[in-house]
Amino acid sequence: MIDNFDNEFFGIGIQNGKTPQNLGVLWRTAQNMGASFIFTIGNRYAKQACDTHNAVKAMPYFHYDTFNDFFKHLPKGAMLVGVEKASEAEALETFKHPKRCVYLLGAEDHGLSKKAIEKSHFLVQFTSELSINVAVAGSIIMYDRGIDKPRFIKAE
Ligand SMILES: C[S@@+](CC[C@H](N)C(=O)[O-])C[C@H]1O[C@@H](n2cnc3c(N)ncnc32)[C@H](O)[C@@H]1O
Repeated sequence: MIDNFDNEFFGIGIQNGKTPQNLGVLWRTAQNMGASFIFTIGNRYAKQACDTHNAVKAMPYFHYDTFNDFFKHLPKGAMLVGVEKASEAEALETFKHPKRCVYLLGAEDHGLSKKAIEKSHFLVQFTSELSINVAVAGSIIMYDRGIDKPRFIKAE
């Protein structure tokens, strides 16, 4: 069945990802949670055993050398959602995901660049004591996108 009439899509990727395993894990989740495309900025993805369902062959994988290159080629009408634990970031718990958007995660060591944070149309974070693994962070964001909020029953 053709299922691209919903007027919504998302892509997800990492800026300067350091660990191939993290990319493999992220791609696998992206494929299973409805991403339309995946991408890397800076460091390129090389085939990784964690990508067990071969996501790279199942959806478009884009590579951009620089953040500027990536930003210039955002899909028309798509919002950039930076994902970072930062004081100025909105809480994921109440965040309304744009219908069409691109989620950008930061590197394992340095997080998102200052420029990426500045250029993001939205910046979102979720509650965690310290920063967590980037592939896990991406998975939480994608899971959150797919559920209806608010999801807690109000106390009487
Ligand atoms: C291991 S963290 C980066 C830690 C880095 N040392 C820093 O200080 O930013 C890798 C990426 O995971 C994502 N991440 C981890 N924890 C997060 C949180 N609580 N909220 C939003 N993003 C998070 C962000 O995209 C972050 O750049």
